[in-house]
Amino acid sequence: MTSGTQDREPFEAAPLDRSSSFYVAGHRGLVGSAIWRNLEAEGFTGLIGRTSSELDLKDRDAVFAFFAETKPRYVVLAAAKVGGILANSTYPVDFLSENLRIQVNVLDAAVEHSVERLLFLGSSCIYPRMAPQPIREESLLTGYLEPTNDAYAIAKIAGILQIQAIRRQYGLPWISAMPTNLYGPGDNFSLTGSHVLPALIRRYDDAAKSGAATVVNWGTGTPRREFLHVDDMAAACLHLLENYDGPSQVNVGTGSDVTIAEIADTIAGVVGFTGTTEWDISKPDGTPQKLLDVSKLAGEGWTSRIGLEAGLRSTVKWYREHADDLRK
Ligand SMILES: NC(=O)c1ccc[n+]([C@@H]2O[C@H](COP(=O)([O-])OP(=O)(O)OC[C@H]3O[C@@H](n4cnc5c(N)ncnc54)[C@H](OP(=O)(O)O)[C@@H]3O)[C@@H](O)[C@H]2O)c1
Repeated sequence: MTSGTQDREPFEAAPLDRSSSFYVAGHRGLVGSAIWRNLEAEGFTGLIGRTSSELDLKDRDAVFAFFAETKPRYVVLAAAKVGGILANSTYPVDFLSENLRIQVNVLDAAVEHSVERLLFLGSSCIYPRMAPQPIREESLLTGYLEPTNDAYAIAKIAGILQIQAIRRQYGLPWISAMPTNLYGPGDNFSLTGSHVLPALIRRYDDAAKSGAATVVNWGTGTPRREFLHVDDMAAACLHLLENYDGPSQVNVGTGSDVTIAEIADTIAGVVGFTGTTEWDISKPDGTPQKLLDVSKLAGEGWTSRIGLEAGLRSTVKWYREHADDLRK
């Protein structure tokens, strides 16, 4: 186990060793699978992944046994209970309790085994509902959270604080990244668990196929959101692991946003829906705007590459090709 001292060699930006053991927690999820694909493409040969049925990260003894057996040198924690507004407001305690347990177990076991580099993934919902836009990393813990996902956000904030505390207590150069809304191959398109963008793709694609005249969406369509392709996110994760060492979480996004109505129009065009869109304003909008300030990440030498329309086209193509084996 690591000694509990803060003394360590100064961090030097350098490529990770491609042959070392590298555990991607949540390797079948949207983010984890993209990270896995990117690491494979980058030549990593020691990748380790476990599904939740092979290793339930809520099971502390099982997590410690897994780390003792596999001894990963590097870890990305992309396993979490994740969902959209509906799931978050219906099952808040599951989002709080399960995510806290997953994080605490993985981070404690990783400390026990002195994992060299570890990246914890949170989400932009950690920031206050009325944080000044675009949201800087310094906005963390400066105001009230969006109530529809506050339980999930508190779990993620606890994860950031745990990383900072581990850095202080054990001197390990572990880091946190906060992605904006992500989309891409492998997303969750289920009716109850999906985020806004895959939910819209499914709704418009179904409407285009059935020849429906109208699509009805939740809310007013006016909230502004930022979307990052998950392959960009995966590239940013490796970049940060190889180049960044600091206690502050790092925002990961494109730096520009669109309204939900604009993204709905773009998706309608991509799937070939020619009817009209209506907005059910009795349903909640969520946060009015969520745009991350990505200047810290840009200062570390990384910016996004995949444009929204091109990213949507490839996501719709993937969705159609996987219509029979999508997540329920
Ligand atoms: N999607 C987004 O827009 C977005 C935006 C910002 C941040 N993030 C963050 O990125 C991370 C991953 O999100 P995602 O979108 O990739 O989610 P996802 O597609 O739902 O994937 C979650 C992964 O976590 C694993 N998992 C969940 N509970 C587990 C458990 N008890 N034991 C072991 N594995 C478990 C699942 O494994 P199985 O598949 O084997 O069940 C799955 O692979 C989260 O921390 C999330 O906050 C996501």
